[in-house]
Amino acid sequence: MSEIIFIEKLYLCYPIQYIYMKNIRPIQDPSRPKVYIETYGCQMNVNDSEVILSILQDEGYALTENMDEANVILANTCSIRDNAEQRIWGRVDQFKLQKRRRDGVVIGIVGCMAERLKDKLLEGHVVDLVAGPDAYRNLPMLLRAITPENPQIDTLLSHEETYADISPVRMDRNGISGFVSIMRGCNNVCSYCIVPYTRGAERSRDPYSIVREAQELFDNGYKEVTLLGQNVDSYLWKSEDGEQVNFARLLEMVAGISPDMRVRFSTSHPKDISDEVIHTMAAYDNICNHIHLPVQSGSSIMLEKMRRKYDREWYLERVRKIRSVIPDCGITTDVIAGFSGETEQDHTDTLTLMEEVVFDSAFMFAYSERPGTLASKKYPDDIPYEVKTQRLNEIIALQGRMSLKSNEREIGRRLKVLVEGPSKKNPDELCGRAGSNKMCVFPSRGEKPGDYCEVEVTGVTSATLLCSRID
Ligand code: 5AD
Ligand code: SF4
Repeated sequence: MSEIIFIEKLYLCYPIQYIYMKNIRPIQDPSRPKVYIETYGCQMNVNDSEVILSILQDEGYALTENMDEANVILANTCSIRDNAEQRIWGRVDQFKLQKRRRDGVVIGIVGCMAERLKDKLLEGHVVDLVAGPDAYRNLPMLLRAITPENPQIDTLLSHEETYADISPVRMDRNGISGFVSIMRGCNNVCSYCIVPYTRGAERSRDPYSIVREAQELFDNGYKEVTLLGQNVDSYLWKSEDGEQVNFARLLEMVAGISPDMRVRFSTSHPKDISDEVIHTMAAYDNICNHIHLPVQSGSSIMLEKMRRKYDREWYLERVRKIRSVIPDCGITTDVIAGFSGETEQDHTDTLTLMEEVVFDSAFMFAYSERPGTLASKKYPDDIPYEVKTQRLNEIIALQGRMSLKSNEREIGRRLKVLVEGPSKKNPDELCGRAGSNKMCVFPSRGEKPGDYCEVEVTGVTSATLLCSRID
């Protein structure tokens, strides 16, 4: 069977739906009431905070970065592991002080922890507002209804909400790289994971609204857009008249905005990433060669128990496929140490898989049992804390060596880098990311954030590529 699939470039035929350039940065107006937003968790939450700010700006609020002057203090929260929630409880204690010092301050917990804990968050009378990830449109109404005796709560999940019509107000500092949510929720039931319970069922957003939002970023000077979803490979939008857009097609549509705008995406699922997506990435220079492909474990026994719906061999085959089509593709991953019943052999399987793949980088975690998940009901959290920690440390140490090895393979390569700003260590140098998502440092010739530079890799550390200029 032929390995090569030719992808025809798609010529965009969507309507341009706006006539003026929309301002997507926060409104500066000292006379407005102020909202302060702290964001925890994933990139999805970062983008949700931008949706929240957009909704609250329309209600007359302005953003502040100073909690001491805020009328409304919001924490957009994460429930993925117990330690994520513990951090937020620590912050609630800080918010309590604000409430004691200033009358009328409203404290809100929104996002995944709000969805998981619901009215339990109202105990202790610190929190005035609890809103789940699908309730943000109701925030103005909820805020208006709050009194000291009447805290407000909305944790209804939706099958339709995608906030497609809301232009997020961008809170990033450099105005170069923006996130666009392409879907919400998750239909997988990985046995360890709380996300399907906090974010509800999967729904894909109208692709034309996604392209419009990405175009809006480009018109405002952004050079990179990251398409976000819990499992981008299962993106599928169907119109009422039968038009269908899958993830590969969506990638083409966004890549077609401008060759000067890079497209990234996260997160891919090993069971769903298709050859079509891989070939689409290869066909467009501005789709970055980077795939975040969480493996979770290298043991097929653990993967089965985790309900990941692939095994070790399947994962390794997907990696081989990616590298055969895109030889220099960056591949990063997530790994969980110490899931229920994990034996020394299972752990060794994870280590050997990491050695075989040589991931560029990895997010590595100790298993944290989440109440209500399938694993919490069926599988005991039976790996002692010390063993989990020991295994996690081995995984982290190995990944350090693999990151170095992966970076050493880059020596001599020529890369196109998007400048983020001056390097932290040396103001005469710039830093920015290559398409693979690796951080590069190189001599400045006065370029600004958002410019592209051609560099050659001359040296490495485990975290950075040290480069010379070739342009
Ligand atoms: N314990 C530890 N790590 C978890 N993750 C998800 N749920 C848990 C859990 N209960 C990790 C997975 C996922 C990443 C976002 O968080 O590796 O890919
Ligand atoms: Fe993101 Fe998951 Fe945390 Fe929710 S629980 S904020 S989806 S990482």
